[in-house]
Amino acid sequence: MTEKRLEVTVLEALNHLISNHPQLLAPMYEIVHDRLGLPKNELPYVLGHNRIPLIDIHQFDYDRQLGVEMDIRTKYNYDGILARIYAENKGCLVHKWHQYIPLYDRYFGPYRGKKIRFLEIGVSKGGSLQMWRKYFGDEAIIYGIDLDPECAKLDGQAGQVRIGSQTDLQFLASVVDEMGGVDIVLDDGSHHMDHIPVTLKALFPKVSEGGLYLIEDLHTAYWESFGGSYRSPTNFFSTVIQDLIDDMHHWYHKDGQKRPEVSNFCPGVHIHDSLVVLEKQRVLRPSRSMIA
Ligand SMILES: C[S@@+](CC[C@H](N)C(=O)[O-])C[C@H]1O[C@@H](n2cnc3c(N)ncnc32)[C@H](O)[C@@H]1O
Repeated sequence: MTEKRLEVTVLEALNHLISNHPQLLAPMYEIVHDRLGLPKNELPYVLGHNRIPLIDIHQFDYDRQLGVEMDIRTKYNYDGILARIYAENKGCLVHKWHQYIPLYDRYFGPYRGKKIRFLEIGVSKGGSLQMWRKYFGDEAIIYGIDLDPECAKLDGQAGQVRIGSQTDLQFLASVVDEMGGVDIVLDDGSHHMDHIPVTLKALFPKVSEGGLYLIEDLHTAYWESFGGSYRSPTNFFSTVIQDLIDDMHHWYHKDGQKRPEVSNFCPGVHIHDSLVVLEKQRVLRPSRSMIA
């Protein structure tokens, strides 16, 4: 076990102890930070107010000897095109977790080379729009929206960029109108638990049948700074995803549907590490038979 891994394991054990004995938090915090001398700035993400900061983002660094493309290919046994497109991206910065790359390709593959209408929430430095243009091809209608007015300068580069909030329903409707409809939405915006469901409720009904709605970086569902925390009533997985699972099975219970505007058109909910994919397709009453 590496020293870093050992450190994380010890912290995980301490967190478990503190969850069961919150009164130990203050003395534990002092021991870990002051007596053991673990630097606070290397442990930036606080998982909960009664937990020792645990997630050190550096522990997720890719294997520098392998490089970005090979790290993705070997780790996920992936031989598709997107690893290269991502790894060779130049100019505008793009930031993606490596596990997303094969997943994007798995779900987006059938749309490549077609005149699809793709909307990414969260433009930032513009690298992802550049990556999508290379991946989907010239025919695709690619739009990005962002709250940051600075992003306006990226308009027309790899796609169209519009400035506004993912919680502004009028703005969202106007962008989709301008696009002539939307086939794929990728929410890589604020990652806040208060925003993601608002955007989903507004945009999912606008996605064409046969389309997709993705939400990424959902590890934030476990972070208080994004309005989430472990199994809390604000955690996206405990709220929206649980409701969608229950709604999907509404035929078999008497508690009704919680989010019919999504669930009546969502036959498949795919959950991956930090990435959720919702299929858009009208849900039909199930039927059964016995054949001999
Ligand atoms: C994670 S970055 C996007 C990264 C980019 N998609 C990429 O892969 O390189 C998130 C972006 O969301 C934007 N953002 C934050 N809150 C937002 C909101 N309420 N509406 C729209 N965009 C928002 C931020 O300004 C930021 O540029």
